[in-house]
Amino acid sequence: MADHSAPSVLIAENLILNRVREIATQIQRDYEGRPLTVLGIFNGSFIFLADLLRNLSLPLQMDSMVVSSYRGKNSTGMVQVQQCSERCHLSDHDILVVDDILETGLTLEAIQKHLLDLEPMPRSIEFCILLRKNCPRKCEINARYVGFDIANEFVVGYGLDFNGQYRNLPYIGVLQV
Ligand code: IMP
Ligand code: MG
Repeated sequence: MADHSAPSVLIAENLILNRVREIATQIQRDYEGRPLTVLGIFNGSFIFLADLLRNLSLPLQMDSMVVSSYRGKNSTGMVQVQQCSERCHLSDHDILVVDDILETGLTLEAIQKHLLDLEPMPRSIEFCILLRKNCPRKCEINARYVGFDIANEFVVGYGLDFNGQYRNLPYIGVLQV
């Protein structure tokens, strides 16, 4: 049976929104004069991405890539990258990959490989992630923009799910057991 008790608050909505604004200010400064392509990794990043984009006033285009590896609370370790839409202009562009959370690093590594295989290659690839878990990585990923460092626990809300549930919570929470 589904557990309907509300997850406990780990990061409140106002803290998230303040941090998103700070990250947007940094991005704005770093990409001044460089047309930017923001690549959202779905589903997990969709709320973060929407809030981030609304705080950016640079000329930019946005596209999405659907990537999945999780079943329940455990990663399968197999990352499936689905091609982004045909309108996507990634080759020869400055790309900012936006994702919800960095855990093992396998997802972002798979995305990076995919982007580096494009011809011509992107001009640059940087990562912007909302959460970075304090846990052992399987791949070294240097994210240029990080919202919050968190402990090694399973979180939901603000786009993140547990078996498809809780994405709509406005805060980052921890499931109560
Ligand atoms: P990685 O490939 O192990 O770095 O995992 C990254 C992906 O796993 C994220 O993009 C999420 O979709 C998912 N994920 C990892 N940790 C969590 C979590 O605590 N809650 C929900 N999803 C998670
Ligand atoms: Mg994800």
